[in-house]
Amino acid sequence: MCELPPGPRVPPLFQMFQWISRPIPFMRSCAETYGNAFTIRFIATPPMVFISEPAAIKQVFTGDPANLRAGRANRILKPIVGSNSILMLDGVRHRRERKLLMPPFHGERMRLYSRMMCEIVDRSIDSWPIGASFPIHPQMQEITLDIILRAAFGVAEGERRWRLRRTMVEALRLAGRNPLLLVAAWNRLVRIRREIDRLLYDEIARRKATAQEDSSDIMTLLVAARDEEGRPMSDEEIRDEMVTMLVAGHETTATSLAWAIHSLLQNPKVLAAARAEVAHVVGEGPRLPPPSPEQIASLEYLDAVIKETARLNPVVPIVVRRLEKDTPIGDTKIQAGNIVAPCIYLTHRRPDLWPDPEVFNPDRFVGRRIDPYTFFPFGGGTRHCLGAAFATYEMKIVLARLLSRVSLRTDGGQRVRVVRRGITFAPSGGIPVIASMN
Ligand code: HEM
Repeated sequence: MCELPPGPRVPPLFQMFQWISRPIPFMRSCAETYGNAFTIRFIATPPMVFISEPAAIKQVFTGDPANLRAGRANRILKPIVGSNSILMLDGVRHRRERKLLMPPFHGERMRLYSRMMCEIVDRSIDSWPIGASFPIHPQMQEITLDIILRAAFGVAEGERRWRLRRTMVEALRLAGRNPLLLVAAWNRLVRIRREIDRLLYDEIARRKATAQEDSSDIMTLLVAARDEEGRPMSDEEIRDEMVTMLVAGHETTATSLAWAIHSLLQNPKVLAAARAEVAHVVGEGPRLPPPSPEQIASLEYLDAVIKETARLNPVVPIVVRRLEKDTPIGDTKIQAGNIVAPCIYLTHRRPDLWPDPEVFNPDRFVGRRIDPYTFFPFGGGTRHCLGAAFATYEMKIVLARLLSRVSLRTDGGQRVRVVRRGITFAPSGGIPVIASMN
């Protein structure tokens, strides 16, 4: 019989309420009281053991995926992404699905996305008011939604893509609600899901029937994909993966960008250094050509800004694996059926790993390779985020474009708190800013 690490003794319903409504103080107080590993309990799910010690995290990320199952632990997302989503799969099916989905996210393909990403950022910047306050987070959401829709569905489909966009925005807005309020909106969510299914199955049928004039979008690649035995993906699999890309790739990237802008505006010296690098590498002003992938790769300081943002304010706070058998992790043996949760937020703020952990200091990352069990904003092992290269490239393009075209300053000194937005931990208040042209 194994003993789970200690944890709060209040009833599971109360622990769940705290995790939903004030997750950061809840996690921090658990870590202060119980240390490297603690167990929290919710209703209707197995106990979750939070861990924040690199050696234990390494055991999870390098352990046998047949034992440490992410698909089973991710069940909560199934009503949104569907049962064929890569997020839901384990074992052989997960491996097959990753192989099929990998090509559009391969580093080489980023070259194709540069121009499209710049056009979308430029259009957004052109619409910003000059000299008046506006919240920047919703602008980042618009940008990342347009980018993922264009990458996923291609460029040619005006009216159809617009309808899909409108429906997705509604679905994502609902999914972004506090889970306690979501129950009340369940019927609407079901109706929107039906509408999304109709649009997606329509689109899949169209791709299958017509010549692939634009083979660079993800949906076209999935329709054409074949596994090792030459089998194509089913319509249901393609539908679920398209929704997965939108859900996994839109809000996460938008929220990371909002945190990056917040941190830059709070740290004028860092902002000045990032702007100087961008001006040096890609230039300044309104009518620049899209940066080349080589230019993007050479923006080392901006890369460090993005990493330091992900360290201090990771938008996904934990990753989860459900154990198939009793497994020693860290100082304990965790019983089969329980969930182990490497905690990104707590690991990234440990003073023994990160001196002055509360200070935003991108220099920590300049010229250094960081241990993947100390810094893991994109998770790890065989489940490492499929869109990590895409998201990083996108964030660099958006920030570089923004820094070369406009100057932003904060609108007053509101205190920013961490709030839940769907699957992400976001800054409160939308980050109001005032823009002026460079
Ligand atoms: C800054 C933006 C993003 C962050 C912080 C992020 C973070 C994560 C994390 C923490 C995981 C779980 C990893 C694990 O369980 O170990 C994950 C998985 C995943 N992400 Fe991302 N992600 C981002 C952007 C994207 C984008 C743009 C896409 C696709 C377009 C994407 C697609 C996926 C997929 C498909 C998985 C599941 C991988 C699997 O189970 O094998 N993500 N992401």
